[in-house]
Amino acid sequence: MRQDMVRIEWYESIFKRSSRRSYYSTPIALEKFEALVARAQELSGDGLRIELVLMEDGGLFKGLVGGYGKIQGMPAYIAFVGDQRDPHVSTKVGYYGEGMILEATGLGLDTCWVYATFDRTQVNQQLALAEHERVIAVSPIGLSTAGYGSTDRIFKFLSQSKKRRSLNDLVDGAAIYELPDWIVGGLTAVQVAPSAANGQPWKFRISPDSVALYRQLGLVHRIVSPEIDFGIAMLHFELGAMERGRSGKWKLLAGPDVANFVVDPR
Ligand SMILES: Cc1cc2nc3c(=O)[nH]c(=O)nc-3n(C[C@H](O)[C@H](O)[C@H](O)COP(=O)(O)O)c2cc1C
Repeated sequence: MRQDMVRIEWYESIFKRSSRRSYYSTPIALEKFEALVARAQELSGDGLRIELVLMEDGGLFKGLVGGYGKIQGMPAYIAFVGDQRDPHVSTKVGYYGEGMILEATGLGLDTCWVYATFDRTQVNQQLALAEHERVIAVSPIGLSTAGYGSTDRIFKFLSQSKKRRSLNDLVDGAAIYELPDWIVGGLTAVQVAPSAANGQPWKFRISPDSVALYRQLGLVHRIVSPEIDFGIAMLHFELGAMERGRSGKWKLLAGPDVANFVVDPR
């Protein structure tokens, strides 16, 4: 993974971010929009293209599908476009894409990862896609209506979207109080990460000089795939560790583990 663009400034946004589904149509302030476009360009590459697209009409996100609510009103959306020939494309979308989501959060803007409920035909028309490219996910971006909208409330209830697994449940073979501070920091940042249908499909195995991420799939993963979630968890773990003074590099694996975080020598 290209890790040079990971920014510690994103750390605080991890705890501020929340998926929002009802927006004011007010355009994003120009200087914020320009900052986002610059960040999108920086995060693009490595089989991934991040684009900001202005809404032409409100029809982008369809209604209820599989428990998900309608997403409405936003002035713009982010499209995460991937190179389908890359076997790790969805994990990379999660990793770099979450950087974009946290950047937006830091600018005071709201977002919501969406990969199931958008109108693919309309999105494809708005983006010039090469033959090997596919829109992997999108996110509305803008200012959400004050308080939780009805869709957010219904959604929170249906998906228990604020319910998270305990820190102890995220690690294999160790109690949380036995672990070094930087690992606890990493796990704490993963704990609040967004995931499709709040499935939290991750678990970590700790070794002296590395941390392995592997899949822990629940019932919900019969209908949603976990790869984007893995990439999101990787970025969160890295930011949490970084904030507590340890850096390292994620290496994607062919399986059964998803990826390995190899700690930099001190
Ligand atoms: C990969 C991915 C796909 C998602 N797809 C949708 C979606 O299609 N529709 C939706 O309303 N929310 C979607 N979400 C948002 C999740 O439901 C949300 O992150 C989760 O319930 C946790 O809530 P929080 O983000 O407010 O912490 C998605 C999240 C991720 C990470």
